[in-house]
Amino acid sequence: MAGKLLDYGKIREDFPILSTKMNGKPLVFLDSAASSQKPRRVIEAFEDYYRCRNANIHRGAYRLSYEATDLYDRTRARLAKFLGASDPETVIFTRNTTESLNLVAYSWAMNELKPGDEILVSELEHHSNLVPWMMAAKKTGAVLRHIPLTEDARYDLNRLDEVLSDRTKIVAVAHMSNAVGTIHDIKSIGKRAHEKGAIFVVDGAQGACHNAVNVEDLDCDFYAISAHKMLGPTGVGALYGRRSILETMEPFLGGGDMILTVSKDSFKPAPLPMKFEAGTPNIAGVVAFAVALEYLSQVGLDNIHAHEMALIEYGLSELGKVPGIRLFGTNDLDHRGGVISFLLEGVHPHDIGSILDEEGVAVRAGHHCCEPFMKKEGISGTVRASFYLYNGPDDVDALVRSLQKVRDIFKMPVKNL
Ligand SMILES: Cc1ncc(COP(=O)(O)O)c(C=O)c1O
Repeated sequence: MAGKLLDYGKIREDFPILSTKMNGKPLVFLDSAASSQKPRRVIEAFEDYYRCRNANIHRGAYRLSYEATDLYDRTRARLAKFLGASDPETVIFTRNTTESLNLVAYSWAMNELKPGDEILVSELEHHSNLVPWMMAAKKTGAVLRHIPLTEDARYDLNRLDEVLSDRTKIVAVAHMSNAVGTIHDIKSIGKRAHEKGAIFVVDGAQGACHNAVNVEDLDCDFYAISAHKMLGPTGVGALYGRRSILETMEPFLGGGDMILTVSKDSFKPAPLPMKFEAGTPNIAGVVAFAVALEYLSQVGLDNIHAHEMALIEYGLSELGKVPGIRLFGTNDLDHRGGVISFLLEGVHPHDIGSILDEEGVAVRAGHHCCEPFMKKEGISGTVRASFYLYNGPDDVDALVRSLQKVRDIFKMPVKNL
């Protein structure tokens, strides 16, 4: 086995939703790449905040507000530690990965790029790591270039020099692909980006939830995450940024909290991190996120990764036996995380998703916000099963059983196609 399974049965007990039924069947949740489920203690922390601790932060001259501020700031320190950032002020709370990447696009790219400058992405990126750069390119006259992909959906580092040059000002790549599960060798891409003087941005939406991350060791300039993919609440994300770059950047949004002083016609921005945190944030969400981080750290990211690898190895082997299946992504498990994308010959992914749903099996069907990749493959989308620390081999078995039902309904031949 590629990895060692966690005691997933015990872990499941911590997640109330996993003991519910869907369409009369026990829920088999295989869509954590879209959003993870939440452990009881995260749900309780959220409720506890509103019951006993609710007050606006950084503003009130009373104890409740000081305490809320302290909880909020302590989450920042915890998250910085989780991401390997030695300076908590370089971690900015946002709403999600999408907003974090837009922050860089608006505050850095739109001010720094010149006509003819290049932004390097790939056709495998999530729209969140594409559209903001397209918007920045449109505004500045910069152009997008794409890292060539290998047949098995990895960045082709042997061909990086074809697209990386002195004109490259931004290299923006995903830590792990949500569409097909490739874990990219981002450290070496970052090194090559810096050699050309480009800034290096990592879309970590699928990274920090499944793999131990150290932004200083990666030597990235920006790393973007979403709490809801890491056992935390929706509406909370973060952006790690290199201090020397953050300090030169214009604020993203203007308003309360992000200023030092305001006069009739002008303002001075606050120091980091407040400069990038305008308005009242999702305080309850941030406070509950601290509990999610604590949970992940207690289980251990290396253990979570090993668990997912064991599931992927089993999943690829069992799904590979289903007649008519086409599996996407690399077979090299050293470069793969907890996602299996597939198609059944002749059946639309949405039909597969609906039939699986009747069996209580929750998967995602469609382009997974990666339309350019689907177009490149000449398909409209795939079915995606994604795994996390609460999934087990029994979930893979349920998926395979349900796919048999799809084959029966579509009267598919018994033999492999
Ligand atoms: C690789 C990747 N990037 C970015 C995002 C966007 O995350 P959010 O919707 O939380 O902003 C996702 C969400 O699925 C993702 O998988």
